[in-house]
Amino acid sequence: MPQRNRDSIGNILIVAISVCLVASILVSMAAVGLKPAQEANRLLNERQNILVAAGVLAPGARVDEQGRGINELFEQFDVRVVDLRTGEYVDHIDPQAFDQLRAARDPDSSRRLSGEEDKPTLRRLENYGIVYLLRGDDGAVERTVLPVRGMGLWGTMFGYLAISGDLVSAEGIAFHRHQETPGLGGEIENPRWRAQWEGLRLFDDEGRPAVEVVKSRAPEGTDARQRQVDMLAGATLTSRGVENLVNFWLSDLGYGAYLDRLRREEA
Ligand SMILES: Cc1cc2nc3c(=O)[nH]c(=O)nc-3n(C[C@H](O)[C@H](O)[C@H](O)COP(=O)(O)O)c2cc1C
Repeated sequence: MPQRNRDSIGNILIVAISVCLVASILVSMAAVGLKPAQEANRLLNERQNILVAAGVLAPGARVDEQGRGINELFEQFDVRVVDLRTGEYVDHIDPQAFDQLRAARDPDSSRRLSGEEDKPTLRRLENYGIVYLLRGDDGAVERTVLPVRGMGLWGTMFGYLAISGDLVSAEGIAFHRHQETPGLGGEIENPRWRAQWEGLRLFDDEGRPAVEVVKSRAPEGTDARQRQVDMLAGATLTSRGVENLVNFWLSDLGYGAYLDRLRREEA
């Protein structure tokens, strides 16, 4: 019987292909197997940021002082879907199943923004958006948390803006996904910078969204100062991105109609 040449091209190819096949099967199995855990982690991270923005949880914390975890704390929120065009709640969409980012990509549930409208470079705007409402013991809404997003320097920044019960000032902001440079634009995550958002006035005297991220804030006691936060050092473009996206989502293109309706109903 002729001896098989172990170093032949055919043999080497068979071994190489077999190794590749086994490795790719293992990688695919790991990817599929880990998907539910990744999804659960993504959801937990988003919820943690909603809680941090709303001032319910300290930045970086996973439990509050009473030992309640993220999911337990999140259950306090009433999650609703809003028609951004009218500001009305919609009941035909299940908030638990609603994927706002997917809706923004679907031409049936979104529209193309004009260049003039599209300050945060979203390209398309969804018709419906989620709101997270936190009520006090008397049933009144104390925090309204809005998902916000817009372009930074390197990519889209995704965050949550929490609005106080007065519907004109911020409670906090938290970004859970972005590609900004750590130490520069990445400082949007810095608790010290974020602390400036607590109590920040979001609208000017005419009710227009008017948050400013500025190099030097107006003097103490002026109206303008109440709407200003410091620009991030060495990150002018990220800072401008944050200003653009916050004002966009508070405007009539974003949640403006909804916030107007709440104010009218309160009045
Ligand atoms: C490696 C590298 C990373 C940078 N990352 C950011 C960033 O995350 N956000 C940002 O606004 N600018 C970033 N910049 C700076 C911008 O390129 C740009 O110079 C700056 O935003 C303009 O700000 P200035 O007007 O203060 O110079 C980075 C620059 C370099 C070289």
